[in-house]
Amino acid sequence: PLHTVTLTVNGKETQLKLSPWTSLLDALREYMDLTGTKKGCDHGQCGACTVLLDGKRINSCMTLAIMQEGKQITTIEGLAPTPDELHPLQQAFIDHDAFQCGYCTPGQICSAVGMMNEGRVKTTADIRELMSGNICRCGAYTNIVDAIEEVIN
Ligand code: FES
Repeated sequence: PLHTVTLTVNGKETQLKLSPWTSLLDALREYMDLTGTKKGCDHGQCGACTVLLDGKRINSCMTLAIMQEGKQITTIEGLAPTPDELHPLQQAFIDHDAFQCGYCTPGQICSAVGMMNEGRVKTTADIRELMSGNICRCGAYTNIVDAIEEVIN
């Protein structure tokens, strides 16, 4: 049976009918056309699907959509303050060339925002450690860390 659920994504409420086992990742991509959030492994291993749930970063592939009613879900599409501006981290990723294919980038950026919300980052080593759940197959790690470091400092 399908469940009716209201999800609040990037400040907008949408009512969906979902099966109980639909992941938040699939709800975003397949039912809401928010394809900025990427599916890499679908097993909680790569971080490509990272979104923010009440400001905390989560792997949306490991999160059931119907459990997220009443929570504030933020995706890469919702980070920019206005349609004409980028989030500082988005701009820093461009300035530092912090990607190659770009597939992991939305997850990297959402994860970095979540990490900053946690307020635990002090050193470059902290960035490397706290971003270790986000895999980049192109190996753009040096530039990713540089981009994040610029925004934090
Ligand atoms: Fe969710 Fe890889 S797609 S962690």
